[in-house]
Amino acid sequence: METVAVFVYIFLFLSTLLSCYPFVRKRRREAKRVSKLPPGSMGWPYVGETLQMYSQDPNVFFAAKEKRYGEIFKSRILGYPSVMLASPEAAKFVLVTHAHLFKPTYPRGKEKMIGPSALFFHQGHYHTHLRKLVKISLAPQTIKKLIPDIEAIAISSLESWVANNGQVINTYNEMKKFSFDVGILSIFGHLDGSHREKLKKNYLTVNKGYNSFPTNIPGTAYHKALLARKRLSKIVSEIICQRKEKRIVEKDLLGYLLNFKDEKGQILTEDQIADNIIGVLFAAQDTTASVLTWILKYLQDNQKLLEAVKAEQKVIYESYTAGGKRSLTWADTKNMPLTYRLILESLRMASIISFTFREAVVDVEYKGYLIPKGWKVMPLFRNIHHNPEFFSDPKKFDPSRFEVAPKPNTFMPFGNGVHTCPGNELSKLEILILIHHLLTNFRWEVVGSQSGIQYGPFPVPQQGLPARFWKESKSSTSTKPD
Ligand code: HEM
Repeated sequence: METVAVFVYIFLFLSTLLSCYPFVRKRRREAKRVSKLPPGSMGWPYVGETLQMYSQDPNVFFAAKEKRYGEIFKSRILGYPSVMLASPEAAKFVLVTHAHLFKPTYPRGKEKMIGPSALFFHQGHYHTHLRKLVKISLAPQTIKKLIPDIEAIAISSLESWVANNGQVINTYNEMKKFSFDVGILSIFGHLDGSHREKLKKNYLTVNKGYNSFPTNIPGTAYHKALLARKRLSKIVSEIICQRKEKRIVEKDLLGYLLNFKDEKGQILTEDQIADNIIGVLFAAQDTTASVLTWILKYLQDNQKLLEAVKAEQKVIYESYTAGGKRSLTWADTKNMPLTYRLILESLRMASIISFTFREAVVDVEYKGYLIPKGWKVMPLFRNIHHNPEFFSDPKKFDPSRFEVAPKPNTFMPFGNGVHTCPGNELSKLEILILIHHLLTNFRWEVVGSQSGIQYGPFPVPQQGLPARFWKESKSSTSTKPD
């Protein structure tokens, strides 16, 4: 009986093997067929074309490559063989339809600095859980309740810029303080002043070290940043402890993270909570601040547009002040079509996140080209946003182009697919609120000639757009300082 069973097993095993053989051969033939790498040049050994990319504007570098090789090309950047993709279909392939074949990838130093458990380094179950929590904390029904607090932060920021009677400020640095405070609000709700100051001080040190050379030697910016990063985790632990003692259950990001339990009843560790809080602050601050800085620059360069946006904001201001109200409502923020288009066009024009990084987890074929396992893959958002096929006369700043919705997958300032930005509504809301108060009660002028772009790491106008702010008097004559 046993001998019969052994024969049956051998028969089944061999027949399975034989039936698979044609497929194995077919897959081998296919692998051979798609062994063609995309066109492009890999540059020098190891460094590749990193120096060429950074010695010129990276946007110019990628635009020149696209012109020469087309929408898919290879290069070696920062030591990694990479494939760049400059078409909406390719970006969709990597970020949406075949996202499981490409994992998020960041340099190890950066991952360590932000915190390895932050959601954007992950894929699969853990990412899905964390993303749900971050999304709820940033959903419209949650953030609409933050409007009065965001307004208070916007007004006090603007007041502080005029306080020094005409002193020139670095617009980008001031916008960073504003977006940091809004980030803290959405994560912790009303946080006490002492913890807020401690977070701000240490976060600033981390931010400085984040883009410095990763040498962990005492005295270097990187080393100081790592120490500050440890202190940030401690501060978050203190805040958690305080909440637990007071048995406070808040509907902010920290509240959602603290109350989370997965299907096995597992809760998040304090390290996981701290990494995600610092990750969200990181994702929220410089991005929003650089877009705001660009908006001021574009308005300054387009005086007619400035007047039109101002007129739109004055109507809203007069409607609520006439009704005796003192602040904006969610409905008001949804009734600013021109200002909204100004934001969209600024996001397109500046494309502050000009590309993102993924890594192929297996050999992937795309349009007859091989993207080998382990290669970096970079969807080039900026190239797509500046392609005349999708945005006519792309160098022209023209918010009216957004009167018609862009074609699908051609406008991705907040990314696309499983990692698309969960903070996009909050960032637009805080921009609308700041612009509303700036244009209805204040004026500004940019100091010096401002062409040129600086990278830190996001593109911002040279020197952070030095500017002078003053309050507009209600008799509509401005009280510009001498
Ligand atoms: C104008 C401002 C902003 C821009 C342009 C922006 C852009 C982006 C982009 C392009 C991505 C996707 C990156 C990728 O796929 O690799 C992203 C992800 C993310 N953003 Fe934003 N963002 C902004 C503001 C914010 C704000 C205000 C927050 C939070 C308060 C935030 C939180 C996040 C998080 C947590 C992720 C990771 C999502 C995930 O991996 O699932 N962002 N952002």
